[in-house]
Amino acid sequence: MKEKIVIIIFILMSIIFGWTVDTYQQCQCEELSLQSECSLANCNWTTLNTCQSNNCTQFDQFSCQSHSQQCAYNSKTKSCTTFESCKTLKGTSPQNCSSQNPSCSWVSGNSCTSTQDCYKFSVKNCPTTCYSNGMQCESVTQCSQLNQTICNTQDLCTWNVYCEPVQCSSYQSADSCLFSQVSGSSIQPCLWKSGACVNALSEEVFNSSTCFTHTGQSYHWTLKEHSDSAYFCKSCHQFLFTISIVIIVLFL
Ligand SMILES: *[C@@H]1O[C@H](CO)[C@@H](O)[C@H](O)[C@H]1NC(C)=O
Ligand SMILES: *[C@@H]1O[C@H](CO)[C@@H](O)[C@H](O)[C@H]1NC(C)=O
Ligand SMILES: *[C@@H]1O[C@H](CO)[C@@H](O)[C@H](O)[C@H]1NC(C)=O
Ligand SMILES: *[C@@H]1O[C@H](CO)[C@@H](O)[C@H](O)[C@H]1NC(C)=O
Ligand SMILES: *[C@@H]1O[C@H](CO)[C@@H](O)[C@H](O)[C@H]1NC(C)=O
Repeated sequence: MKEKIVIIIFILMSIIFGWTVDTYQQCQCEELSLQSECSLANCNWTTLNTCQSNNCTQFDQFSCQSHSQQCAYNSKTKSCTTFESCKTLKGTSPQNCSSQNPSCSWVSGNSCTSTQDCYKFSVKNCPTTCYSNGMQCESVTQCSQLNQTICNTQDLCTWNVYCEPVQCSSYQSADSCLFSQVSGSSIQPCLWKSGACVNALSEEVFNSSTCFTHTGQSYHWTLKEHSDSAYFCKSCHQFLFTISIVIIVLFL
């Protein structure tokens, strides 16, 4: 009974909101079983044909900086370490922090701050991932808030008379038709169909070459349970997703 309710709610939500993907938790290197996905995620494809996280301590400065999703570089100690979060990096200036990892900047004290935490920054140091309304530094929640100059600096917005969100239908070629950003941590996967880019209604439309890229690296191509030849496009955080559905159901 409860399962039916969950399915009905999910279908209703899909109809109302479309199918969106939360990119907050992307696939981990260890979850990936295709070499193509492993290399897109900038992980280490081993001689045993498995995908592993990189051991950052082995990297020189150049390799370290080209693996900034996973590693941070300290120019003082000339060492590369595993990147956990900006908070765990020591720094005393915006340059000092961003040189260690480009997703970090600095607000005060001895440690760095993520450029995603817009509200922590002053207008003067507002990172380009955020926008300043002149009074304070904010995260972009709606493209319509932005003027042309700032609109054009935002990946999720595009200028077209007004500042509006980039939609799948805005993409004019199969190569650019990947996904559109719905909010900071949520995307709408797109599908190239009959010469147009449209919203993908579920992961079932994807194959081994589109599953990972069209979901912002949040789904991966993997074997079905109890099968040795049937593959499908699977969420890397099904667990969180299930929990959020259960919470929604409990509160109805
Ligand atoms: C990649 O994995 C191999 C094991 O197959 C290991 O020898 C190598 O050190 C790893 N490289 C990095 C950068 O982690
Ligand atoms: C990473 O590489 C260093 C240097 O080669 C090695 O000492 C260390 O054990 C490796 N760490 C892991 C987790 O493989
Ligand atoms: C940060 O800046 C301080 C002072 O300029 C300097 O001593 C330190 O080496 C810098 N650290 C890094 C990681 O760049
Ligand atoms: C857009 O807003 C920014 C910050 O409020 C301001 O500095 C800039 O001059 C504005 N640009 C235009 C074209 O209005
Ligand atoms: C996956 O689908 C796309 C079109 O949606 C197609 O161009 C591509 O060849 C397919 N790839 C595989 C491996 O089937």
